[in-house]
Amino acid sequence: MTAAARIHSTEDARRIAKRRLPWMVFDYIDGAAGNESGADRHRAALDQVTLKPRILRDVSDRDLSKNIFGVKAARPFGIAPMGMCNLSGPGADLMLARLAAKHQVPHGVSTVASTPLEKIIEVAEGHAWFQLYFSGDGTGTFKLVERAKAAGYETLVLTVDVPEVGRRPRELRHGFKMPFKIGPKQFIDFALHPRWSISSLLAGKPDMANFQMPGYAFDRTESRAKATWDTLARLRDMWSGNLVVKGVLDPDDAVQLKTSGVDAIQVSSHGARQLESAPCPIEVLPVIRNAVGQDYPLFFDSGLRSGEDVLKALSQGADFAFFGRPLQFAIAAGGEAGLNQLWSVLSDELSIAMAQVGVRNLREIKASN
Ligand code: GLV
Repeated sequence: MTAAARIHSTEDARRIAKRRLPWMVFDYIDGAAGNESGADRHRAALDQVTLKPRILRDVSDRDLSKNIFGVKAARPFGIAPMGMCNLSGPGADLMLARLAAKHQVPHGVSTVASTPLEKIIEVAEGHAWFQLYFSGDGTGTFKLVERAKAAGYETLVLTVDVPEVGRRPRELRHGFKMPFKIGPKQFIDFALHPRWSISSLLAGKPDMANFQMPGYAFDRTESRAKATWDTLARLRDMWSGNLVVKGVLDPDDAVQLKTSGVDAIQVSSHGARQLESAPCPIEVLPVIRNAVGQDYPLFFDSGLRSGEDVLKALSQGADFAFFGRPLQFAIAAGGEAGLNQLWSVLSDELSIAMAQVGVRNLREIKASN
C-alpha cells in the first residue's frame, strides 16, 4: 500500500512525515515557540469546542463551497502561507498551487516561498494570495508589493505577528538556518534520511526563491519590528486589491484595522510559533467577531487538524479557514498523492460533520450562531 493510501487523518500524515524527514526539517515544521505549552493549550482549546448534533433534517445534499472575495471556493478552507515549503518535498509549492487551482481555494504564497511568486500564481491559475513581511526599513518590502501586483496578485496578506522571529528551541537545536548550511550534524541527519536527502538535494537545495534576483534581499533573522500603523496606511494607499492582515488576537486591534480600510482579518497565533503565552485563537475568535460585526470578513488559522476543526472555526465566527503544517506533512509523507489524499480526508471530515450538525451548506452555519 502506498504511503498516500495510509493517510486517514492529519495525524497519519504527521507520523509518516516524522519518519521520512530529517529531524531538522521535521522540527522546523512541527516546532512552536518556547516550551510549546502555547501550542498544546491552543490545541486543547480547539478540542474543548463542541458541535451540537441535529437530527432529521435531510442533509443528503451538502455543499462545501464558500464565497471569498467574490470567488466561489470549493471548500471553506485554503492553504496558509508557509515559508520554504519545498523542504517538505521537491516541488511542494507547485503541488499546493495545483491543489489551489483544482479546488479554487486561496494559496497563501509566502514572502519566503521556495518558488518565485510569479510561477506560483501561474500554476495556481490565479488562486494565489501574496503574503508579505515588512522587513528592515521596508525598501525591499514595497518592491515586493509592486512585483506581486505586476504578477497579477489581487490579494495581499500582511503578516503582523512577527516583529521578531519567535524563538523555537527545536529549530535552534538543529542549527536550522535559511539558506541552510550543511555541517557535520546536518550531514548525519540527512544521511539517516536518504529518501528525503536524495530527492531533495538532487532537486537542488531549497532556497528563498523570491530573492534570487538582483535588488531583492531578505534576511530571515532581520528585525521586522519597525512596522507601524503608518506602514499599514502606506500599504493601503498603494494596494488597491484586497488587503488582509494576518496574526490578530486583540479585538481593539481588529476594530482599528477595520477602520483603517483593511478588507479582512486573519485571527491567528502563527501556529503558536511566535508567543508561547498568546491567548488561544479559537477563544479570541468569537470576541473579535463580536467586535467587528457579523458581516466583516474574518479568517482563521492555527492548530486546525481536521475538517471538523474547520466547522468549529466557522461556528465560532470565521468565514474561512486555513491549514498549514498538515499539508506539508502530507507532502512529506506521500508527495502530491499524499497531499491530494489528505485534502480529500479533510473534505470528507467536514462533509460528514456538516451532516451530523444538520446543515447542508455553510451559510446555515453562520446563521446558526
Ligand atoms: C515563519 O513564518 C515561520 O513560521 O517559520
